[in-house]
Amino acid sequence: MIELAFSILASDFAHLADEVAAAERGGGTIVHVDVMDGHFVPNITFGPPIVKALRPVTALPLDCHLMIENPDAFIADFAEAGADMISVHQEVCRHLHRTLQLIEQHGMKPAVVLNPATPVETLVEVLPMLHHVLVMSVNPGFGGQKFLPLALDKIAHLAELREEMGLNFRIEVDGGVAHDTVAQVVQAGADMLVAGSAIFSPGKIEQNAREFLAAARA
Ligand code: DX5
Ligand code: ZN
Repeated sequence: MIELAFSILASDFAHLADEVAAAERGGGTIVHVDVMDGHFVPNITFGPPIVKALRPVTALPLDCHLMIENPDAFIADFAEAGADMISVHQEVCRHLHRTLQLIEQHGMKPAVVLNPATPVETLVEVLPMLHHVLVMSVNPGFGGQKFLPLALDKIAHLAELREEMGLNFRIEVDGGVAHDTVAQVVQAGADMLVAGSAIFSPGKIEQNAREFLAAARA
């Protein structure tokens, strides 16, 4: 199943609940929450309080992409706030297996994110634990960047490994995914499509989401 995980990073924060509702009407089925700490990435966004504020206004799963150093320290806070899925960057987890166990123990679905320069092979041992793998198709930190085609081979490689290993984790892609790039990421094997700037433009959210999904499913 191809799903749109709309990134609220590109939304109008003053009207967050309305923006989420519009993206949902357009067919979005996952809320992608980009958490940045100003250390792992050169930008700061939001944390558990926003997850907590979103929880009562949508029934959609909250997919929290943690672009932070030391994610272990915040897993409990995200669980308590109502997060459903947590993805941590491979690059910051010295004990990745332990971090994934911690996410599971808190009742959330664990995922790992790969920066553009991080190879798929770094995840082979933990793939059986994962709900999904998030392949970055830009360097993390900002919305509205240009899609990096090197992500396509990584997506295809993960799809192959999934088949070979008899697993069923999902493949999410994030960064520069828009109407003109979405077909190739789906073709490569991604099925959770993160999109921010392609969805959130004033007054056009529902229509953008609909058109994005039409292009993804074409
Ligand atoms: C980038 C974030 C992305 C970002 C995507 O660090 O992880 O989720 O919001 O934005 P677009 O779709 O505009 O590239
Ligand atoms: Zn993201």
